[in-house]
Amino acid sequence: MRLEGKKILLIIGGGIAAYKSLELIRAIRKEGGEVKTILTKAGTEFVTPLSVASLSGHHVYQDLFSLTDETEMGHIELSRSADLVVVAPATADLMAKAAQGLANDLASTTLLATDKRVLMAPAMNVRMWLHPATQRNVACLKQDGIGLIGPDEGAMACGEFGPGRMAEPLAILEVVIATLSAPASLPLSGKHVVITSGPTHEPIDPVRYIANRSSGKQGHAIARAAAKAGARVTLISGPVTLPDPEGVQVIHVEDARAMLQAVEQALPADVAIFCAAVADWRVASAGTQKIKKEKAGPPHIELTENPDILATIAQAKTHRPPLVIGFAAETEHVLAHAQAKRIKKQCDWIVANDVSPASGVMGGDQNTVHLLRGETVSSWPLMDKTAVAEALVHEIALALKTSSHENQ
Ligand code: C5P
Repeated sequence: MRLEGKKILLIIGGGIAAYKSLELIRAIRKEGGEVKTILTKAGTEFVTPLSVASLSGHHVYQDLFSLTDETEMGHIELSRSADLVVVAPATADLMAKAAQGLANDLASTTLLATDKRVLMAPAMNVRMWLHPATQRNVACLKQDGIGLIGPDEGAMACGEFGPGRMAEPLAILEVVIATLSAPASLPLSGKHVVITSGPTHEPIDPVRYIANRSSGKQGHAIARAAAKAGARVTLISGPVTLPDPEGVQVIHVEDARAMLQAVEQALPADVAIFCAAVADWRVASAGTQKIKKEKAGPPHIELTENPDILATIAQAKTHRPPLVIGFAAETEHVLAHAQAKRIKKQCDWIVANDVSPASGVMGGDQNTVHLLRGETVSSWPLMDKTAVAEALVHEIALALKTSSHENQ
């Protein structure tokens, strides 16, 4: 019984796949879990409240303004009393409402009011799933930290073929179990880690920008490793071609000033890791119209300094994370330059790497790094960026554990 003592709130939307939710209720209960349900009005077109109530063994909540429902358990309490909220089937409409933060029925209000993790199993026609509006909503939901299960690809009730089928109940069950059994004892459980990654694009005019070659691979790998270690991760990413890491809240930004603002909004955090290759300068007054090719020759572009995000946060008077980590990509005198940078910016640790052309690491999948903690230097061998990320997260977990013991 892998869900003993766990409480799941299941929101059943109005889709033909709603019949599979009945199987899901049975499967969760078989594993020892308790299921309370919200059935949307459209959901009642596909399954009856009586079947849902019989299988779950509980009252079915249907109405935001129902006196009986509210006296039994108010919608806010309903949204908080569960360990996990699962939406299956998650219709295009329910997903759109949740992405926009609408609260005009019991299901959407509950999704807005909950402080618990939410999983959604989308189910809809393939065209509806592939529609840019739905894909926009999917991106928003992922960014809000909502986990998506499926949809599967295959033949659909409407006779079409493609992605849009709801994941099978047993597949949903496994994700529910994995989500709930992420032990509270993972090395970074309960910690919030903020990470910057990728380059920044500094606009010259609406069509041109100044950029650099950062791939974001290292920052994204650290985000994945921190999430795997149980942390709540906010990844603030400049423009990259990498997919958003799963289970991570990703905030996409373009330029340095937006990156700083996003970092400040993401605080407080237990750890902040500044991996982004932030442009040092931006165009002093970026054109609002495309700069025309004049006969007089190329335009004169005046640059001005960007905020140093790492230094700003490391020296912040309020909300300075207890552990602030910077990166130093150097082409010569790697350790000396990195140490000077750590002291100047006032961060706690600095991860230095050699990016001289001879090292061949820039933009690649591997990295040779040195970890500078105060005067202590640990040099790691050439490793995959994923291994560097995991080793760094391991060191972070050890440091947080030590400092929490020291504070006890
Ligand atoms: O000074 P330099 O760019 O070499 O410093 C690198 C470190 O500072 C990295 O951790 C980088 O993410 C951070 N940084 C920043 N904001 C800037 C410039 C660098 O956060 N404007």
